[in-house]
Order: sequence, then structure tokens, then C-alpha cells
Amino acid sequence: MAELETERLDRDGIQDRSAGRLARAVRLLCERGPLEPFRLVRRHGLAASASFVARNVQHLVADHLARKWDRDHNVDTAGSIQLAGLSIVGPNRDQGNECLCTSPKTFDFIMRSLPSDLGDCTFIDIGAGKSRTLLLASRYPFAKVVGVEFAHELVEIAIRNIASFRGPAQKCRDIEIVEADAAAYKFPPTPLVVYFYNPFSKQVFDIVIRNLAASLRENDRACHLVYGSSSHAAIDWARPAILAGGAFEQLPTPPMPGFLDAVRKIDYAVFRYRRDGGEGTSAA
Ligand SMILES: C[S@@+](CC[C@H](N)C(=O)[O-])C[C@H]1O[C@@H](n2cnc3c(N)ncnc32)[C@H](O)[C@@H]1O
Repeated sequence: MAELETERLDRDGIQDRSAGRLARAVRLLCERGPLEPFRLVRRHGLAASASFVARNVQHLVADHLARKWDRDHNVDTAGSIQLAGLSIVGPNRDQGNECLCTSPKTFDFIMRSLPSDLGDCTFIDIGAGKSRTLLLASRYPFAKVVGVEFAHELVEIAIRNIASFRGPAQKCRDIEIVEADAAAYKFPPTPLVVYFYNPFSKQVFDIVIRNLAASLRENDRACHLVYGSSSHAAIDWARPAILAGGAFEQLPTPPMPGFLDAVRKIDYAVFRYRRDGGEGTSAA
């Protein structure tokens, strides 16, 4: 049941799995005739067919809202952008995940679990995609907002977005996008909020967490870390990697509601750096 997953090139010539989904569904129905839904149920059963339809309707609604958000803010951040065919910095192409952005409602919900005094913090999105999260973060009073992204084409779109963003409530205008492999990124010596939305495999994540822990040891400062993922499995391996070594503790957070504007529901966890030097603040 993956017919709607076929890809389409967007205006920048990159593969977007979300674009044209409704048109593809209608074309499929026209090609196969009005009995196709019944054949689907016979082939896959009622429960699987209903869940397939619900998933696709939810995707269509969320994608529609994402494109509306883009139009309202004069940017291009929507879509499910495939890494195949993009120009990638560094050796970790195969470890990276597609570019799918955090929804505005999801982001604002996560922000409620962070302290409100962010004025001296740098917000860093590791795997920043087309910059949606950077733009969302710029509506909060961070000292600086930074995105790290290894796909050149996405960096170019992000630069355009940062310049054209129309956000009446923008509180931070110091936004930077760094074209780099996250595994080679050096964290700035400021207090940090570091955000991950399922950007890559555990292999790369372990390196980034090790680098972050080393940076915090070298320059003791406040740091909150948010790890979000659309699959429990990723949270399940990220949590122990973050907690290993005792540098971070997990904070209690409310469960994520199912927001209409989220193409996929994000599970998340928030961690705080233990500045008391919690046992073995050695590498995670
Ligand atoms: C799921 S998207 C998240 C986009 C954005 N953070 C958000 O929440 O809206 C993951 C992004 O991580 C990027 N990425 C994957 N591996 C990377 C790496 N090793 N270094 C930098 N960026 C990477 C991908 O290109 C993609 O844009």
C-alpha cells in the first residue's frame, strides 16, 4: 500500500514525497476505477485499510497546513525531502534521515518544558533541514539561533528562508546556518538548548553526544537537550546514550498531543546538563 509514497521533484529539483499526494490518490482512483477501495479492503483487511486511509488523510491535512504556514510566512519549509540526489558534506550520507520538519504546534508544546529565561542561550538545531525549527525558535528570546545541516541544497533553501521570513513575533534575529556534518560540529561556548528531531542513526548520534559532553566539560555552562522522534525505537536508543556517563538528567514532560499540523506525531524527551558534575561527567 505504498502507491502514494512515490516521489516528485519540487521547484528546487529535490525529491519531495509529500507534494502532490492528493493528486496521486485521485489519479490512482481514476486509473483503477471506483471499486479500488473495495479491492484494497479485500486484499489487506478492514483494519489495515482504515489505518492506511487515516494515515494518508492525516498526512494530507498536516501537509496542507505546513504549506499554508509557509505561504503565511513567505518561506519554503514543507515536504518530506529525500537525501538521495542531494550534495552532502562529510561521510555520513547513509546515516542521515529524510528532511521532515517539526510542526509549529509541536515545537511550541516542547518549548513549554524548557526554562523561560533563554536570553543568554544559543538554540542549536542539529540537522536543521530547510530551517523551519530555526524560524520557530526565532520567535523566542534566544541570544542566537543556529542550524547545522549537511545537505547543500537544504542549506541554500534555509538561507533564503531566513532572509525572507515574515514573522511579526520574531524575538531573535541572529540566525545562522552552518553547512557541516553534525559529527564534525564544534559547539559554541555559550549556554545551549540543543534540539534533535531524529536526524540520523545512533552511530552519528553517539559521536555528537560525545562532542557535546566534552564541550560542556571544557566550558561548564547550562545546557538543555531535546530529543524528538517519530518512532519510539529512536527515543529508546537515544535516551541511554544521553544518560550514559551521568552528564545529563531527564526532566519530566507531558505526553505529546496529536496535533493536526504534524505530518508525524513526535515523541520527545528533555534533558538537563548536571552542572553539579553528576558522577562521571565524562563522555556519554
Ligand atoms: C528529520 S529532519 C529534521 C529537520 C529539522 N530539525 C526540524 O525539526 O524541522 C533531519 C535533518 O537532518 C539532516 N541530517 C542528517 N544527517 C546529518 C548530519 N550527519 N549532519 C547534519 N545534518 C544531518 C537531514 O539532511 C535532515 O535535513
